Amino acid sequence: MSIARVREIELAYEVSGTGSPVVLLHGFPFNRTLWREQVEALRERYMVITVDLRGHGETPASDAPATMEEMAKDVAALLDSLGLARVVLGGLSMGGYVALAFYQLFPERVRALLLADTRPQADTDEARLNREETAKRVLSAGMETIADAMLPKLLAPATHAEQPQIVRRVSDMILRTDPQGAASALRGMAVRRDQTELLRRIDCPALIIVGSLDAITPPADAELMQRKIRNARLEVIAGASHVSNVERPAEFNRALEKFLDELEA
Ligand code: MLT
Repeated sequence: MSIARVREIELAYEVSGTGSPVVLLHGFPFNRTLWREQVEALRERYMVITVDLRGHGETPASDAPATMEEMAKDVAALLDSLGLARVVLGGLSMGGYVALAFYQLFPERVRALLLADTRPQADTDEARLNREETAKRVLSAGMETIADAMLPKLLAPATHAEQPQIVRRVSDMILRTDPQGAASALRGMAVRRDQTELLRRIDCPALIIVGSLDAITPPADAELMQRKIRNARLEVIAGASHVSNVERPAEFNRALEKFLDELEA
């Protein structure tokens, strides 16, 4: 693990392998280890950079809402510190919100996008209120409350029934997250802008991946992104839910490697 001192925080990150740079941003409330199987698959041919977004993993939390723009600027500052002008940028769920914010701020730095189990829309008013209630609950009662509420939706029924090691891994990631980091991210996600209009301005290649059973950011959201982004490919992973890269790493990696290899060709 390495630390970059950027924008007044100590950002934890990891660089694996060499080759064209690929940055992967985790969802909420996870950390960079979410991408373990993708790092293993890609490190032979790519430089894979995984980041603990502020308030997650080993990157400390701040009290203020961690907006998608703040997180995107953290990533840009990290890339500056690594001397990387342009990268393939991928994100799952909240990581996808950050990737879209990054594209909006720094389109010239994005060679291609991976948008996994994510969506362009802002929160509804009701979702915003729920986020605030969850933020308060997490701060007063800890991460267990959020793990109990989220786990049934994050993973498919078959994963719950047949893959206890995946359930434990996802649960552990949630429980290890700093409640203050989770609360700040919830408040940041609640105020994120609607990026639907941005989609038409995306002119780099995009790979969109979604689990067929994803109930948090359902396939309909992925289809919307595919329709609006000029050069987008959609991969639906049968039987996976919201954390499709962990539930079905072989299928996820096949789609991602094909996409990256075509960019290199
Ligand atoms: C995530 O996985 O990052 C979150 O479920 C996204 C969200 O709550 O909108």
